[in-house]
Amino acid sequence: MAAALNGSDLHPVTSSINSINSTTGLYQPVIMHVISSLLLLGAVASQAVFGRPDASGRHSEVVKRAVDSWIETEKPIALSKLLCNIGTTGCAASGAGLGVIVASPSKSSPDYWYTWTRDASLVSKLLVDTFVANYSSSLQTTIQNFIISQAKLQGVSNPSGGLSNGAGLAEPKFNVDLSQFTGAWGRPQRDGPPLRAITLINYAKWLVNNGYSSTASSIVWPIIKNDLAYTAQYWNNTGFDLWEEVNGSSFFTIMASHRALVEGAALASTLSTSCAACTTVAPQILCHLQSFWVSNGNYINSNQFISGRNGRDANSILGSIANFDPTVGCDSTTFQPCSERSLANHKAVTDSFRSIYAINNGIAQGVAVAVGRYSEDVYYNGNPWYLATLAAGEQLYDSLIVWKQQGSVTVTSVSLAFFKDLVPSIAVGTYASGSSTYTSILSAVQTYADGYVNIVATRAQSNGGMPEQFDRNSGSPLSAADLTWSYAAFLSAAARRAGSVPYSWNAASGKTLPSSCSGLQVAGSYTSATNTAFPTSQTPGTGIPPTATTTAPTTTATGCTPATEVIVTFNELATTSYGQTIKIVGNIAALGNWSPSGAVALSASGYTSSNPLWSVSIILPAGQTISYKYINVGSDGSVKWESDPNRSYTVPQTCDTTAVKSDKWQ
Ligand SMILES: *[C@@H]1O[C@H](CO)[C@@H](O)[C@H](O)[C@H]1NC(C)=O
Ligand SMILES: *[C@@H]1O[C@H](CO)[C@@H](O)[C@H](O)[C@H]1NC(C)=O
Ligand SMILES: *[C@@H]1O[C@H](CO)[C@@H](O)[C@H](O)[C@H]1NC(C)=O
Ligand SMILES: *[C@@H]1O[C@H](CO)[C@@H](O)[C@H](O)[C@H]1NC(C)=O
Repeated sequence: MAAALNGSDLHPVTSSINSINSTTGLYQPVIMHVISSLLLLGAVASQAVFGRPDASGRHSEVVKRAVDSWIETEKPIALSKLLCNIGTTGCAASGAGLGVIVASPSKSSPDYWYTWTRDASLVSKLLVDTFVANYSSSLQTTIQNFIISQAKLQGVSNPSGGLSNGAGLAEPKFNVDLSQFTGAWGRPQRDGPPLRAITLINYAKWLVNNGYSSTASSIVWPIIKNDLAYTAQYWNNTGFDLWEEVNGSSFFTIMASHRALVEGAALASTLSTSCAACTTVAPQILCHLQSFWVSNGNYINSNQFISGRNGRDANSILGSIANFDPTVGCDSTTFQPCSERSLANHKAVTDSFRSIYAINNGIAQGVAVAVGRYSEDVYYNGNPWYLATLAAGEQLYDSLIVWKQQGSVTVTSVSLAFFKDLVPSIAVGTYASGSSTYTSILSAVQTYADGYVNIVATRAQSNGGMPEQFDRNSGSPLSAADLTWSYAAFLSAAARRAGSVPYSWNAASGKTLPSSCSGLQVAGSYTSATNTAFPTSQTPGTGIPPTATTTAPTTTATGCTPATEVIVTFNELATTSYGQTIKIVGNIAALGNWSPSGAVALSASGYTSSNPLWSVSIILPAGQTISYKYINVGSDGSVKWESDPNRSYTVPQTCDTTAVKSDKWQ
């Protein structure tokens, strides 16, 4: 039965349309029959239906019911298969360390028997959101074990580096026993640290909201702090994208970096601590983010500083849904899912797959298609991915949530083409709830979104399994079996379809653009998080408001808040020749404890022959006195020290979170 519905009986697309158009209600008994036999067999099949919406809307009702029932059947299967991939007890994760989220149980062709920081962070974010929506003590244990595993992992030295200057945090993948992976790879990947911070911040918020602020401060914050410091220090360096293929600046990574710093600053303040680097750097990341928008093409260019790609990539849809925050409505600056930019981009990305996959042949614009990573993809011959197809649906469910919340839909010149595919007669304007156009738009978008889930339902394995990809010609599942991220993508789309929204990330406080962009990077300090003893019985609290458990920061006579940490910009005038780098070294860990190997490099981006400026911004505790010197490091590693005496500087203790120290080579 499953095979019949999953296979050629409902192919090609036209056969199901003819049936629907000619026989009212034909599919309903068929679907019911499938479901009852499935219940009997204890398995799940793909009872999805193909086809285009017809004018009567009858077809969309059929798709909706098919998707409703498939989701209900698939949800527990996806969650249990996801949990199977988490060590040590997961049914498919034998050999993996405690709390380690394995990418896939597949150990060959392809070998995904590793833990990727990106995948694991996205999967654990789904678990945290699920937990926040519906408390479960077993899920809490899983989340705690994941956090404990990440505290350990942050300290594992690897080919990207170590913890002392943060560089090792961007290592993309580790062995499942948490040892380093030393093979050649596309590294570093700078989305891992901010994504992990986001997940942990969200669990910390639950702790705070339920009266457990001290657990958030003592166990979770020290891990988050390292990842935030990493993000503030390295966001403006090139790195590998989420598909691990191109070295540049990736929209997905920059979105995650921005969110992490905005949300991190808010959590720091809730926990009565601070993240001055978060507050200072986040607006600069948002500023850089704007440069990914291609206004003369109405799409997001997913990767900068690379060649050989047209820029349209599921990267951008994944970035947009990951930063969904309905409190800012359809804001374009943060690329909200319902923003004019993200909707135009949805069309650009999904349209880019219409003509290249045989299984999409003949499907009109505005009707769901199988979605892959990007059209030039050659991995496994280049195929649609479950998680990309689900993301295309999720973006539309996110949009529906906001439109219903605000009671209107605005169509602009930028988003017009997206809407015209769905409601051909539409014009630029704002359509309020109650108007027939508003109703038409919402109904068409719901059908369009369900179409993406319907494709996944049709292409999933008959037991509900989802690997990484499905074949561009035959539609058959292929590549890594039981990809953990595929299940998380399904569960996330299903939650949004049901109207469930995760915690806000304070996007409202993070959507103001500075007047001009700078690549400000702030060097931080990194400390291994050693306290991982979660107290037992942290059940939902009695709704103690977060502010009641924290003390308000003391203010001075002038009403400002004294800074506890200060971003000090060290400017050193030093004439150098090509290949030489000026670094700063001193008597504290952040300055390498006088060891040149731990010295912090200055940037020569403002260097001219008349003004040989080297500069770096470093976060330091207010009031601390440091001894330091600059060194000139040659391309062969040779070190030339400044002459004596050692320099001394006391970080100011005022309300300012920034300070400048100007020096000249001595
Ligand atoms: C909440 O979680 C429990 C398992 O802990 C599950 O049985 C129940 O269906 C969930 N409820 C909702 C509304 O998701
Ligand atoms: C990535 O690109 C930058 C230049 O944009 C280069 O300096 C760096 O070495 C490259 N990294 C790798 C691993 O290729
Ligand atoms: C660094 O930031 C500047 C300012 O926004 C931007 O022009 C540049 O492209 C960024 N570079 C990278 C690698 O992110
Ligand atoms: C500078 O500091 C280093 C490390 O503490 C010390 O060994 C050295 O003697 C100091 N130099 C002077 C001139 O005090």
